[in-house]
Amino acid sequence: MSFTVNPLSPVLGVEITGLDLAQPIGENLASDIRQCWLDAGGLLVLRDQRLTTEQHIQFSRLFGPLFGAPGEIPLQETVSRYLHPDHREIYRVSIQLENGTPRGRAGAGTYWHSDVSFKSRPAAASILHAIEIPDCGGDTIFCNMTAAYEALSDAMKEMLAPLRAHNDFAQTAATQFAKPVVVEDDLTGANHAVHPVVRSHPETGRKSLFVTPGNTTGLENFSADESVVLLGFLYDHATQPEFCFRHRYRQGDVVMWDNRSLMHYAVCDYGDQPRYMERTTGIGEKPA
Ligand code: SIN
Repeated sequence: MSFTVNPLSPVLGVEITGLDLAQPIGENLASDIRQCWLDAGGLLVLRDQRLTTEQHIQFSRLFGPLFGAPGEIPLQETVSRYLHPDHREIYRVSIQLENGTPRGRAGAGTYWHSDVSFKSRPAAASILHAIEIPDCGGDTIFCNMTAAYEALSDAMKEMLAPLRAHNDFAQTAATQFAKPVVVEDDLTGANHAVHPVVRSHPETGRKSLFVTPGNTTGLENFSADESVVLLGFLYDHATQPEFCFRHRYRQGDVVMWDNRSLMHYAVCDYGDQPRYMERTTGIGEKPA
């Protein structure tokens, strides 16, 4: 199988057409897709896919182990009600009800974040299958945290180099656009991690900012006021339009993003129109 690649924006992302992910993907093809993803700054949109949930999982496993898979690290308990009943590695994002209960998490991810960065081994690739999309709205915005880092002055880079930040699910729970019923155990430390403010990508070697409004609670050894100012500057800097790409979905899109070098924001502007996405979340390395 060969494929065609078109850029989606100058700062981030490519679109791939001509691939059918429902067919077996051999090692060479998987490695070409991975390289294309890394070269595109960590964002791939694979168009026109019609995948079963099992095929989605099979494709995702080509890029590493998945949160929630048998024997692997689970996602936090709070989201367990939104996981696929038969496949715990599938997180469902939806506003629709199924037999009176939400089919998935409504308004999930409506804040800038990198998936599960409050875990000691945060996410690498998240892979989202757009199964049902609204007629208008429901985009996801991605921010290239490598480009944002590289645009900083040398003096700022030097200051950030030794810094570490606290990341906690408590921040997510407080920031959440549509608050879930939070499982208290998720707030007691298991979903807390201290990570470098600037991390090096384990595959490309490039450095990225690794703090997000959705998960970061503060900078280690800084006062709360100092943290707010410095983090606020970094967020304003990173989310400038020049570092962002806004993805408008087509039905059947499979979107693969790299949480090690991007943050993202799911825009919840589609009222009660249907939007149903299934996502796998790859287990990444300990950030360094
Ligand atoms: C998420 O993974 O944060 C949700 C993304 C989306 O639904 O656009």
